[in-house]
Amino acid sequence: MLRRLHHEQPASFEFTPANLDWAKGQISKYPEGRQASAVIPLLWRGQEQEGWLSRPAIEYVADLLGMAHIRVLEVATFYFMFQLSPVGSVAHVQVCGTTTCMICGAEDLISVCRDKIAPGAHQLSSDGKFSWEEVECLGSCANAPMVQIGKDYYEDLTAEKLGWILDELAAGRVPTPGPQNGRFSSEAKGGPVVLTEGDRVEEHNASVAAALHLGDTIKRIDGTEVPLLTPWLDRTDKPVSKPKGKPVSSRLGGAPNEVKTPVEDTRDVIPAEKAGQNPAQPEAAAAANAASEGEAQTETEQTRPATLDAPREGGADDLKRIKGIGPKLEQLCHSMGFYHFDQIANWTPEEIAWVDSNLEGFKGRVTRDDWVAQARQLAAGEDTEFSKRVDKGDVY
Ligand code: FES
Repeated sequence: MLRRLHHEQPASFEFTPANLDWAKGQISKYPEGRQASAVIPLLWRGQEQEGWLSRPAIEYVADLLGMAHIRVLEVATFYFMFQLSPVGSVAHVQVCGTTTCMICGAEDLISVCRDKIAPGAHQLSSDGKFSWEEVECLGSCANAPMVQIGKDYYEDLTAEKLGWILDELAAGRVPTPGPQNGRFSSEAKGGPVVLTEGDRVEEHNASVAAALHLGDTIKRIDGTEVPLLTPWLDRTDKPVSKPKGKPVSSRLGGAPNEVKTPVEDTRDVIPAEKAGQNPAQPEAAAAANAASEGEAQTETEQTRPATLDAPREGGADDLKRIKGIGPKLEQLCHSMGFYHFDQIANWTPEEIAWVDSNLEGFKGRVTRDDWVAQARQLAAGEDTEFSKRVDKGDVY
């Protein structure tokens, strides 16, 4: 199947502040120079924020990771889990059409989608609330036929049952996911034939219980899902901070649909980063994180550095040899009058603070990636580990 970008694209994309915090936590999981490893989680987050992956979102993630746009586009177009065109605002139904589900009635489910949603896959329903597609095996073959809606599986379906589920969703209700024929999980239809001792006390299997608890079946990520904990960012002498509230495992046993605030939790466990003690960038330290926070920035004295109207004779330096500067950020630097390593190498702390707070969409990058130290080496004609990789063509 051809997977192309949608013909209509939004003008821009940006992570919400909470999602940007989360993305920074993801990126911090990987060693220096390997930040590109975070590409899939970041794309996924972008999709969950917007519902689908637009070109601006793909390019935004690329810039965030210092990757060439084409590299991230390759990832986004390769994996079918990324939606390259808008999906229904209420639900996108993924119908498994692989062998087991096909034998058990997947074609009937697809007919329901055609009737109730739209004649073709990836088309929006007339009210824009639903869309559907056929996908490959979703690993729930023992409960065929099945569909995935949002994050949850609706299993052991019939055409009538899927029609009812779509009607319920349209009416603003979320049917309980999991088996729809009374089965608990994937035991034999007549009941379990092994491990029969003891009475089952749970009403739902673990997946369904978690889904009910999180209440996120058709809800996009809004910061209330399981937090990304980044205790490795706190390597100071003081004990590692713990997230507020119960540990994740015990939360799953809490009241259904309890509203949680994992974004706050995440912030709570990365005080070292906020205090400028990120061990991954010791030299960038305090200023880096202060600069990435708008409110902190107002307290830092700032001076606009000297700029040039155009590159000097011989042309601009390749600023992409500085780790953290991708094509878009290089363009932004040019538009601000920065073309050469020696310009960046000579920035004072006040000038760094000014640039950091004026890099629209990339605030705090100068200190986060320690551009000045890198620029000093490059201006002196030396290489950095990163610039060697760029020169070899390992980084695009
Ligand atoms: S064949 Fe449908 S889930 Fe595996």
